[in-house]
Amino acid sequence: MTREAKTIPMSPAPLILPLPGNDTFARDLAAVGGEVGAVETRRFPDGETYLRLMSPVEGRVVDLVATLAGPDPDFLRLAFAADAARAQGAARVRLVAPYLAYMRQDKAFHPGEAVTSDTFARLISSLFDGLVTVDPHLHRRAALSDLYTIPAAAVQAAPALADWILAEVERPLLIGPDAESAQWVQAIAERISAPWTVMEKTRRGDYDVSVDLPDLAGHGTRTPVLIDDIASSGRTLVAAAELLAARGMARPVCAVVHALFAGDAFARLQAVAARVVSCDSVPHPSNAIRLAPLVAAALAALPDRPRNGSRK
Ligand code: R5P
Repeated sequence: MTREAKTIPMSPAPLILPLPGNDTFARDLAAVGGEVGAVETRRFPDGETYLRLMSPVEGRVVDLVATLAGPDPDFLRLAFAADAARAQGAARVRLVAPYLAYMRQDKAFHPGEAVTSDTFARLISSLFDGLVTVDPHLHRRAALSDLYTIPAAAVQAAPALADWILAEVERPLLIGPDAESAQWVQAIAERISAPWTVMEKTRRGDYDVSVDLPDLAGHGTRTPVLIDDIASSGRTLVAAAELLAARGMARPVCAVVHALFAGDAFARLQAVAARVVSCDSVPHPSNAIRLAPLVAAALAALPDRPRNGSRK
């Protein structure tokens, strides 16, 4: 006797499952389209992870929401959640990581170094059918598809940052702290018809950064707005703000996409800035710019390419 394969129709509305700390972003996504479910997770006394999907996933497109600002402790829990969803019959399992970790060590700078960008991308690609993130730190790699083998979309936060600056800052002068930042500073400047420039950055170590600035003649009365994709140690933006002060400019508004702010970075930056704001890719008191509408649009447009083992 042969058993016929059970066919379960795919529900069009995604089931959005937040990992701990991602509830607000998940609710914002669901407000655009989808239903929020729940994941229960805790540590056993020996430090291992317990995880249970509290919402039925069979036949559903499941979007796991997990920003990866603390990737090492979060990754295994994420892997368990993805694998559980697949084992319990999810039609697709996608990762929504508003901040995507392990994008910077994309080559071996010294003999023997691990190229962690490659390894991390392989691990994520083996667990998920798709990935949506925001402004990943693509530097030496041109696109996520150079690293990830699943459909992957990189949302640009520039339109959201531009709209915030237009509404909140009078006569802005947009400044990027290094050459890399030109890509998003220019995109924002074009959207709001503001002047822009970038500094030259020299980084000698994690906490040792200096910047230099072209002549700002003619822009002295404008409000400087420093824009960067990541604030980690905060040293880049602090050095940039101090240089502006040395040139007689007003205290800058600082706008970043990913507010990692390690250690005392946020307090140090607040001490030299007029205002510090961020997008909500990483939950932080500076969050002022919501990304969920842009991320929801990218999820809706993500190509559907089931990986091996996914139910068709
Ligand atoms: C560098 O390439 C990035 O765009 C940021 O400027 C950098 O990650 C900021 O790091 P930190 O806050 O540690 O100076």
